[in-house]
Amino acid sequence: MEIRTVGRDFLGDIHSILAESLPHDRFSAALLHEKLFDNPRPDTDLYHTFGAFDRNRLTGFMQSVRRGDRAWLGLFAVDPAFRRRGVASALFERVQETWPGATDVEVLALPGNYFAPGLDPRYTAALGFLERRGFERFKDCVNMTVDLTGPFVTRLTTDDFTVRRATAEDAPRLDEFFTRHFGEDWRFEVQRAQRALPVGLHVALSGERVVAFAAHSSQNREWGFFGPMGTAPEAEGHGLGRVLLHRCLADLYAAGHGRAVIPWVGPISFYARHCGARVDRVFWRYRRAAGVRLEGDRLLEGGETAVLTVAGRWTGATPCPVDRAIQRHVARGVHRVVIDGSRLEAIGDAAPGQATAWGGRLREAGGFLCFVRVPPPLHTAMELAGVLTTAVIRETLADAQTL
Ligand SMILES: CC(C)(COP(=O)(O)OP(=O)(O)OC[C@H]1O[C@@H](n2cnc3c(N)ncnc32)[C@H](O)[C@@H]1OP(=O)(O)O)[C@@H](O)C(=O)NCCC(=O)NCCS
Repeated sequence: MEIRTVGRDFLGDIHSILAESLPHDRFSAALLHEKLFDNPRPDTDLYHTFGAFDRNRLTGFMQSVRRGDRAWLGLFAVDPAFRRRGVASALFERVQETWPGATDVEVLALPGNYFAPGLDPRYTAALGFLERRGFERFKDCVNMTVDLTGPFVTRLTTDDFTVRRATAEDAPRLDEFFTRHFGEDWRFEVQRAQRALPVGLHVALSGERVVAFAAHSSQNREWGFFGPMGTAPEAEGHGLGRVLLHRCLADLYAAGHGRAVIPWVGPISFYARHCGARVDRVFWRYRRAAGVRLEGDRLLEGGETAVLTVAGRWTGATPCPVDRAIQRHVARGVHRVVIDGSRLEAIGDAAPGQATAWGGRLREAGGFLCFVRVPPPLHTAMELAGVLTTAVIRETLADAQTL
């Protein structure tokens, strides 16, 4: 098997494999091109697509995106005739090399250019694959569908605000609005919506100031894609959201769509009430944080400092940061271990080298264990990393005692 970067010239082959692999999705090669090769933020995001080849035949592909210390696993699939032979695993190994130092890896939810906000759990093989690779489900979200039957309420009943389609001259006030309220990613998405014809962005203004917006057609246009939308807190409660939503839906209807997709929701009841949208699809969001996978209970002794026992597996490509943290704290003196409430003083005042050696020995066995007296900031950081089971601690302790 050979793994190498693939470009637009493989779009047709990739489309065939993916279309066969995702029976719950319908999409054209053009939409797939947008997801894989049309990077909306080349200034900050690095896009890669890798293909697996068996004697020059493409058998699978996997996409990766990186932005600083964050990364995303994008679309991936393996030709059904080549499954369960390690193709996706080999692709994943290659993809991981594009994330050196990434502390947080999410699945599918590429900023501003996502096919889906998470994994449809009906794609069960992918779910099994991700969990095997250390990804954890951390949140669910839904896409809603709305039948575009109208009528659409496109005018406000108040004179305090005005609504209209955005123009190119709105750029400075939109910049100011997004900087203040909704951030860079949505500003970018909205800029893409402004490239649609007609412009897929409607705004509400108070005087000269933008106070709310709704967009459509920023991506996935063939699905009748709505969003994002948002209202500044000071302008809530005046019915702006509903009118802006309806203006976008009216555009999508005029463009020939019978239905619109409201993705990655959000306030379900708002859309159900104001345009009769219904929950259509559920997605599970998967994430692999910091590359640390801890197994077992965390045993803490509170107070000024905490005695923390951490055991687990480091799954990242870079050196283990917990290990570096251990070494730093070991340099200040390891004090004692608490196991199931009974104190074990044997490890007290270990020399830095000695404690590092335990770490090394356990790392060779595919894991690490540390006993550290830690001040609150680090202890909180470690808490973020997860939990340990008492069984793992007992097992690992037997190992540590012999060192
Ligand atoms: C998910 C998918 C890419 C896996 O490809 P693959 O090449 O068969 O995967 P691998 O052979 O490398 O499998 C690695 C591990 O993943 C897990 N896995 C793979 N297929 C699985 C399945 N059907 N059920 C449960 N776990 C599975 C297993 O742990 C497997 O290890 P094992 O074979 O030692 O048990 C493939 O099934 C696929 O293309 N699915 C449809 C596409 C899809 O859903 N993509 C996600 C949304 S874009």
